[in-house]
Amino acid sequence: MIITPQLAGNVARSCHPIGCQQALQAQIDYVRAQGAITTPKRVLILGASSGFGLAARVALAFGGGADTYGISFERGPSEKGVGSAGWYNNCYFRQAAEAAGLQAANTIGDAFSPKVQEKVIADLKADFGQIDMVIYSLATGRRDIPATGESFRSVLKTTGAPVEGNTINLEAQALEWTSIPTATSEEITHTTKVMGGEGWQEWIEALLAADLLAPGAQTLAFSYLGPELSAPVYRFGTIGVAKEHLHATANHLNEQLQQTVGGIAYPVVAKALVTKASVFIPVMSVYLALLMKQMKANGTHEGCIEQCYRLFATKGAGQQPVLDEDRQLRLDDYELAPSLQAEIAKIYPTINGDNFKALTDFDGYLHDFMALNGFDLAGVDYSAEVDMTEMAALKP
Ligand code: NAI
Repeated sequence: MIITPQLAGNVARSCHPIGCQQALQAQIDYVRAQGAITTPKRVLILGASSGFGLAARVALAFGGGADTYGISFERGPSEKGVGSAGWYNNCYFRQAAEAAGLQAANTIGDAFSPKVQEKVIADLKADFGQIDMVIYSLATGRRDIPATGESFRSVLKTTGAPVEGNTINLEAQALEWTSIPTATSEEITHTTKVMGGEGWQEWIEALLAADLLAPGAQTLAFSYLGPELSAPVYRFGTIGVAKEHLHATANHLNEQLQQTVGGIAYPVVAKALVTKASVFIPVMSVYLALLMKQMKANGTHEGCIEQCYRLFATKGAGQQPVLDEDRQLRLDDYELAPSLQAEIAKIYPTINGDNFKALTDFDGYLHDFMALNGFDLAGVDYSAEVDMTEMAALKP
């Protein structure tokens, strides 16, 4: 079958498996070219199939020789479609890791589900033993709690006065004027239940109870703060409240780990990047496309893999993490450079539907989104048939 990109707004409805393999290989090649790093050796990653979780997995395995166990929520090929990019990322990651002599296992399922947790714990006991590091990198809109029958949905709204601004529509390649309403207190609670720290805490407590955390085990969760410019949408948005909860959870888990296995927990505040999840945040996209242009111009642009390699190579993650006074590991240092933000704050208000392609790195933004789904990559023959029988035989 010949696979073409299918966009609906900011959602990719198809992916190209060969392109996904190539994009993954590019991350592996990047890490190998940087050189070996010292990392934890047995790592559990929640949200391992794309974005920051996948990049962390690649940096750990191909930079530090780590064995990794990944959990993610993805779709394989079926009569309904080719499946999701993350599915192929899992399959090809495992292949590449095993070819390099590393252990790599995946569970595809809902990380909030107790059944999935039980399965993972049984797998770890059987095949991995104690874990040195747990990475929490879930981005999702929903959390179900089977024991109580509750179901929480996150929303992307503000907690202050309503906000208006432009958002990039990738399908239309145009700006759309968007209004972000003020969230109700129930919506804030729901978003915190989904994207806050509760899920992280449940996993760490379950691993401790199963005696699966090694002495000195570390756990980190990816987070974001961002500049003043995006604060009404992000920091003072529902997602920002959830991240505050995540950071508070880090402090709580840190105490718990210190008392039990002599371990440590901290949030990693990363930079804004194009991922499957981030393109949904209204109004952030114009800031992000402008950020990309400015960071490329001053030579500080990074993608997920550059961020994650730097996390382990120079920020001490997994060894002696370099934390700020609020116990956060900052990977957003280049993004928040005052001179860069001053330039962005000057240009941002002048952006409109006619000039955004020139004033921002819209092309780069679109390319990164397409590449997440295996498209727009040099060296992939998109006119060639993809053998779906072969794809269906791949195992995550
Ligand atoms: P992503 O969409 O690329 O990855 C999300 C991962 O979570 C995927 O592996 C997906 O399969 C998995 N997942 C989603 N729901 C799941 C469920 N119920 N059970 C198991 N796995 C599930 O997103 P991204 O952007 O890498 O986000 C990861 C974390 O990084 C989030 O906490 C996000 O807030 C944070 N972050 C993202 C930034 C960005 O600009 N993209 C910046 C800084 C932090």
